[in-house]
Amino acid sequence: MAPASSSSSPGPHQRRPRYRGKHPRRFEEKYKEHDPQRYGETVAKVLASGKTPAGTHRPIMVAEILEILSPRPGDIAVDCTLGYGGHTQEILTRIQPGGKLIGLDADPIELPKTEARLRALGFGPDTFTAHRSNFAGLPKVLASVAANGADIILADLGVSSMQIDDPARGFSIKLEGPLDMRMNPERGQPASVFLQKTSVDALAFLLLENADEPHADAIATALDGKAFATTMSLAAAIRAALPRSKSDDVDLSVRRVFQALRIAVNDEFSALDTFLRNLPACLNPGGRVAILTFHSGEDRRVKKSFEAGLRDGFYSEIAPEVIRPTAAERASNPRSTSAKLRWARR
Ligand SMILES: C[S@@+](CC[C@H](N)C(=O)[O-])C[C@H]1O[C@@H](n2cnc3c(N)ncnc32)[C@H](O)[C@@H]1O
Repeated sequence: MAPASSSSSPGPHQRRPRYRGKHPRRFEEKYKEHDPQRYGETVAKVLASGKTPAGTHRPIMVAEILEILSPRPGDIAVDCTLGYGGHTQEILTRIQPGGKLIGLDADPIELPKTEARLRALGFGPDTFTAHRSNFAGLPKVLASVAANGADIILADLGVSSMQIDDPARGFSIKLEGPLDMRMNPERGQPASVFLQKTSVDALAFLLLENADEPHADAIATALDGKAFATTMSLAAAIRAALPRSKSDDVDLSVRRVFQALRIAVNDEFSALDTFLRNLPACLNPGGRVAILTFHSGEDRRVKKSFEAGLRDGFYSEIAPEVIRPTAAERASNPRSTSAKLRWARR
C-alpha cells in the first residue's frame, strides 16, 4: 500500500484515495505528485511530459527575471505573488548573507503551505517572512517589516497552477467544482453569486474589457438570469451559446469567459492599478521591479505605468520592449506561452 500523506509529521495512517484504472486522474488522487520528495521519479516524468505536477507550480522565466533583478547579498526583496515560492527560493539564495525577502499572497490556503516549504528549506524568519495580503497593500506590509524601501520587487500576476488544478477552487475550465474563483475564499463573493448579480450589459462589457471575447454579447445574453453553481455547468452554457462555426475555437471562448470572471471576482485590475501607483515609492533608489503578465489587459497597464513613470522621473530606465519566454520554455511548460515580462529601475 502506498503512503497516504505528504506531511512530514507521522499523523494517523490514512488510506490514499482510490482511483479506477492504471493512473490517477483526479487532482486529489495524484498522491505521488503531491509528494515530490518521496516520488521524485514520477514527478520528473510529469515534468518531462510538459505538465505541472499536482499541487505545485513551475516558475516562469526564472533566468530572465534573475538577470533583470540581479539579486545581491544584503538586498531587501519583495515577492508580491509568492505562489509556490519558485521565484522566491531563487532570489532568497542569492540575497544571502544579510538579505531579506518579504513574500505576499492573497491566498490563505496555499500561503501557509509555501511558508512551511520554504522554512523546511532552511529560510528562517530573519530572512523570509510571509504575509497574507493583497499586493495593493504593499506599502503597509513593507513599512511593517523594513526600515526603507525594497531593492527588488517581483510580481507574477494571475493564478498559480495549484489554484487552477484544484477543482475545489473553481478556476478550471476542465474540472468540475464549485463556481468560486476567489484567490481569497474568505472575502468577497464567489463567481456564481457575482454572475447572478451582474446585468447582461455589464457582463457583456466585462467579457470584452477583461478578455477581448468576440462573442461577448451572445454569451452574456445566454447566461443572463440563469444560476450556475459549478464550473462545468457554466462551461457547457458558454459552449451552447456560441455560434456554430468551424473556425471558432470553442474552448478558447470558455477560457476567456472564465478569465474575465476571475478578474472581476478578484477585482484584479484595481489591485494592479493601485500596486503600480505605489511602486516607485516602495523602491529604494536603484531598485528594480519585474512584472510578469498573462494577458493584454495586464500588460497594457504595466506598460503605460512604466512609460509614465519614466516620463515623470520616477524611473531612470524601463524595458525598451516586452520580453517573451524562449521557445524551449514554451515547449517544456505550455503554461508559460502567454507570459510577458517588463521591468523598470528607480
Ligand atoms: C502565478 S502565481 C505566482 C507563482 C510564483 N511566482 C511561483 O514561483 O510559485 C500568482 C500568485 O499571486 C497571487 N495573487 C494574485 N493576485 C494577487 C494580489 N492582488 N495580491 C496578492 N496576491 C495575489 C495568487 O494567489 C497566486 O498565488
